[in-house]
Amino acid sequence: MATMRAAVMHEAGGPEVLKLETLPIPAPKDDQVLIRIKAFGLNRSELFTRQGHSPGVQLPRVLGIEAAGVVDKCPGGQFQIGQKVATAMGGLGRDFDGGYAEYTCVKASNVQALDTELDWTIVGAVPEMLQTAYGYLFKALRLTTKDRLLIRGGTTSVGLAAAAIAKNHGCYVASTSRNSAKSTADLLKKTGVDQVIIDDGKVAEQVRANKFDKILELIGTTTLEDSLQCAAESGIVCMTGIVGNKWSLDHFAPMDAIPNTVYLTIYSGGPEEFKETPLNDLLKQIQDETLPVQVGKVFKLDEIVQAHDTMEKNLARGKIVVPTE
Ligand SMILES: NC(=O)c1ccc[n+]([C@@H]2O[C@H](COP(=O)([O-])OP(=O)(O)OC[C@H]3O[C@@H](n4cnc5c(N)ncnc54)[C@H](OP(=O)(O)O)[C@@H]3O)[C@@H](O)[C@H]2O)c1
Repeated sequence: MATMRAAVMHEAGGPEVLKLETLPIPAPKDDQVLIRIKAFGLNRSELFTRQGHSPGVQLPRVLGIEAAGVVDKCPGGQFQIGQKVATAMGGLGRDFDGGYAEYTCVKASNVQALDTELDWTIVGAVPEMLQTAYGYLFKALRLTTKDRLLIRGGTTSVGLAAAAIAKNHGCYVASTSRNSAKSTADLLKKTGVDQVIIDDGKVAEQVRANKFDKILELIGTTTLEDSLQCAAESGIVCMTGIVGNKWSLDHFAPMDAIPNTVYLTIYSGGPEEFKETPLNDLLKQIQDETLPVQVGKVFKLDEIVQAHDTMEKNLARGKIVVPTE
């Protein structure tokens, strides 16, 4: 029986619950593709699952909601063997075993063919990160070239990706961080941020004279009410992240909290949004060095515990990627 290495979660807990094990390589059905994974990115939703906040996920489970690699088997003929591909979501790493492995088996309909010569460390960083950034900017926030965009939680990997895409689109971009170090400002500016705002929890007071058309809220409910006050007339605020770790608002009074004519929405990308994301166009921009994508830290598969620890301690400053070879 052919086997593979995979990081398996048997119980909820700290990073150490992720155990490297040898498992059988899954066999694809006619509507599935077996992907030989070359690299995968880490996501905070996997952190929540590992901590036990995803009751719907049955254990043991190989986590990982995304993967990039090459087609190893494709009984239905939807893709050529050896074709470079990426996949994300659609139950991956939640309903069935996911990307923290050398192989994964997914629906062919949830796979994008890739045309790129970029290093797998970069390719592995992008499927979920760019899907998310692209989706909330264009689908939820309806970003236009003239918009002034505020990214609350600018140093998150998806916030850095959003800044790069929005800047390329022609927008004025401001990003927040709690960290006032010059290295943080340099990192943000390198990805296209025009204005760095130190987040003391009261950003609205700092931007009162020059509010924003579009606001991306990645910290969540702990800063949402303040972010709403940063929005200009008819502006849109989209909450899509929750690094602040608080899931609901206490005593939310919409008539007070939402300024006149301001729109409040959320974004939660799924398989449809993944398929709609122009990954090859974005990879081309990365290759041409017009879209700066920030890989924060790189780990090997047998360092998955350290990788999760780094994510939990917010030490990556960009996407955490695990090449499998
Ligand atoms: N909706 C979707 O489709 C979707 C998809 C992917 C991710 N997401 C969400 O997007 C968010 C960002 O994910 P990510 O993986 O990009 O995050 P990440 O890179 O792990 O974010 C790390 C950053 O978060 C900030 N941070 C951490 N704890 C904080 C707190 N308590 N208050 C304020 N800032 C805090 C820190 O910034 P500073 O220290 O610089 O302040 C840190 O640099 C997550 O909530 C994730 O679940 C959503």
